[in-house]
Amino acid sequence: MSFFNLNIKNNAPIAVFDSGVGGISVLRALLLEMPNENYWYYGDSANAPYGTKSLEEVRKLTIAHVDRFILQGAKAVVVACNTATSAAVRLLRQKYPEVPIIGIEPALKPAALSGNHPNVIVMATPMTIREQKFNNLMNRYMGVAHIIPLPCPGLMEYIEHGDIHSMELEQFLERLFEPFDKLKLNAVVLGCTHYPFVSRELKKVLGDRVRLYEGGPGTARETKRRLAEAGLLRKEGVKGEVWFENSAYSKEKRRLCEKLLKLAY
Ligand code: DGL
Repeated sequence: MSFFNLNIKNNAPIAVFDSGVGGISVLRALLLEMPNENYWYYGDSANAPYGTKSLEEVRKLTIAHVDRFILQGAKAVVVACNTATSAAVRLLRQKYPEVPIIGIEPALKPAALSGNHPNVIVMATPMTIREQKFNNLMNRYMGVAHIIPLPCPGLMEYIEHGDIHSMELEQFLERLFEPFDKLKLNAVVLGCTHYPFVSRELKKVLGDRVRLYEGGPGTARETKRRLAEAGLLRKEGVKGEVWFENSAYSKEKRRLCEKLLKLAY
């Protein structure tokens, strides 16, 4: 009886949540790490962007979404949004100590350790950069790297509207990096899950020498570790499924989700 129930629970989906389509960069990493799991991807595009909202607003939205995922049977939750993670992950873990809740943070560690005191820019939303969580992370690596936080309001909107390659986007990125000497730059951390989708445009602006770091693969490895620890991994050899849900659902949005999931970058 308990074995049977356990099996059903392990087939339950992992909820993957973001303020919009950005978390699909994390979903890709999850699928590579655990192709046999079922995923329920929820994008809150109707309320996006989160990064320019108040802490209280993002907290309220994130907690309400996660309440629903757990109520509807998700076996674990991946908060695939740096902004929502910094606003709410601690509270969510307090509220649901029995559910694996995995957050994402900018991949600053590998970037900071990538060279001899490298120059590292961290691109993220204004809220992620303002919050304590990021400041603690930055303080940890301050001694080994020169770290410059770069808030990027307005950038997620391009990806959200399906623009991952245009003259306008390239000009936006050019303006963003104008104040920096690109020749002295070693690494750029993509501290918002939307940004990996503009990696190709970023490489055009920054050149191939600058390395880009994203948090998705580390989050996927951590999710697998947490599921294994909780005895919640689905059995191997079966194929998982992906369900897309979006608070601003349209056929175009769905097509964009599918396109981003397959995109090579
Ligand atoms: N994708 C979200 C993140 O990782 C932010 C986008 C937004 O501003 O809503 O921070």
